[in-house]
Amino acid sequence: MKRMLSGIKPTGQLTLGNYIGAIKQFIEYQDEYELYIFIADLHALTLPIDPKELRKNTKDLISVYLACGLDPEKVVLFKQSDVHEHAELGYIMACNSYMGELSRMTQYKDKTAKMTTNDSIPTGIFIYPTLMAADILLYDADYIPVGIDQKQHVELTRDLAIRFNNHYSETFVVPEPITPKMGAKINSLSNPEKKMSKSESEKGTIYLLEDLNITRKKIMSAVTDCDNEVIYDPEKKPGISNLLTILSVLTNTSIDSLVSEYQHAGYGTFKKVVADVVCEKLGKLQQKVKDIQSGSLIDQILETGAQKATYTARKKLSKVYRKVGLK
Ligand code: TYM
Repeated sequence: MKRMLSGIKPTGQLTLGNYIGAIKQFIEYQDEYELYIFIADLHALTLPIDPKELRKNTKDLISVYLACGLDPEKVVLFKQSDVHEHAELGYIMACNSYMGELSRMTQYKDKTAKMTTNDSIPTGIFIYPTLMAADILLYDADYIPVGIDQKQHVELTRDLAIRFNNHYSETFVVPEPITPKMGAKINSLSNPEKKMSKSESEKGTIYLLEDLNITRKKIMSAVTDCDNEVIYDPEKKPGISNLLTILSVLTNTSIDSLVSEYQHAGYGTFKKVVADVVCEKLGKLQQKVKDIQSGSLIDQILETGAQKATYTARKKLSKVYRKVGLK
């Protein structure tokens, strides 16, 4: 069975983009692959975060994983900081990387572009992709399901793995990124040319655990063009195309059949359909999250996951230590 691995960082609240670009894929793949899914909590430290918020986000994330249908019997579900091999291989990967390639990472460039000249850039966001490479390479993962924004980091991971293998002899599996055909980049509702993200504007981002009245309002006031025809054209009609993508993924219906159904329905009616579908989906999810959080399974699941992950990670790190001369 091929192995697949992915993670989400518990910064901010989880978004519909995280669900469609990542979590939904994890669920679909769990029967077909040996799946390792983790909470990338060390990555959450790359920018300042309140410890209380980090704890809450971590609990929400594991609950959402479970509520969406990840089955801990099939999937190794764990918290990155419970497996210290991540930080250790992360250091070795940092030593195996170049300043030039890390400065070319789009996410790093975007994040630093938003800072003023008086802001100090935390080193963590610069070396972040080397920790992500370690996350992947520790487990010999063949495939990495991610949204488009993370593809470049997986490509860097490939380069680092190949470089290490060439220098020290075959050690790491070279992973491949997998992005979903539809929904690899869900855009902001208020600025549909930009990615929906935890740090984008509140109005443009649907949070999985937010009040559904707010969700509905956000969708009903999503920015669209003014010709009132529901057609898929991401360049000329980014707002409507984004809503079509969301509806298509959540209802498993092709864009073509949605267009033939709603082309002349008018934007108001179409947005209401999208809002109904999203709110129904999130309502069910939120109820499950509540049930999970009022139970006592989470700690046990994370403990078992950490044991399984550590077993695999330790073997790989030990091999790496031998190869580089630390053992
Ligand atoms: P993060 O936490 O920013 O995002 C988690 C996943 O959600 C996807 N995603 C989206 N997909 C479609 N549309 C969007 N608007 C959208 N927003 C987010 C991301 O592409 C990602 O798949 N560095 C990673 C976490 C990580 C990781 C790893 C992932 C750490 N180590 C190893 C895979 C393998 C991150 O910050 O993702």
